[in-house]
Amino acid sequence: MPASVPIIFLLWLGYATLRYNVLGTVAWQEFPVYVANKAVSAAAVTLLVAAYLTRRPGRPRIYGIAGFLLMLVHLVLSLLVFDPQHYPKILSAGGLTPAGWWSITAGVVASLLLCGPFWASRQNALDRLGETRWRAVQRVGYLALALCGIHTAALGVSGWLRPSTWPGGLPPITLLTTTLALCPLVLRVRKK
Ligand code: HEM
Repeated sequence: MPASVPIIFLLWLGYATLRYNVLGTVAWQEFPVYVANKAVSAAAVTLLVAAYLTRRPGRPRIYGIAGFLLMLVHLVLSLLVFDPQHYPKILSAGGLTPAGWWSITAGVVASLLLCGPFWASRQNALDRLGETRWRAVQRVGYLALALCGIHTAALGVSGWLRPSTWPGGLPPITLLTTTLALCPLVLRVRKK
């Protein structure tokens, strides 16, 4: 595994810890699941985006697999603390909030779509599918990442225009990851 994979995760872990535990008001007992989950999910988006943007031979496959596996860890960690106390923007006493519905629906569809490129990243997939179909499956990832952008935007957009509320002036992870997630699709559309 290239060093860039753990480095990306550790940079996000540092950012999340600084924003939420050090400068913010989140208790340290929330670090192992709630705060770590923010780093895991942001690293997943970053690696999936890197898989589509890198030109280094062999890297798209490694970044794609690492991003997909971190996305699975994100799902498990999210479910461990899936309650209205941790996620008031997603859950209320009556169930999903409207923003939560959009976010979780987009997240579930994105997770399912990402299974395609992940499946096609097996060693012999290119031979079995042929280049045209293999590329079509990989292109599903652009849509999946755009849906990840909807997933994070629905959660965070209400705080994006209130920089005075950002701990230490640090932008929300939802703003950073939404911007990142849309990059491959925007760059691809502009190239055409
Ligand atoms: C079944 C599908 C999914 C569920 C149930 C889910 C659940 C959640 C939850 C509960 C949050 C709020 C975390 C927080 O505020 O601390 C969140 C945020 C996030 N999710 Fe997902 N997610 C799903 C799919 C995805 C996918 C496919 C990605 C992309 C790889 C992703 C990336 C993110 C990111 C980057 C955040 C923002 C983290 C933050 O700012 O706190 N999620 N997700």
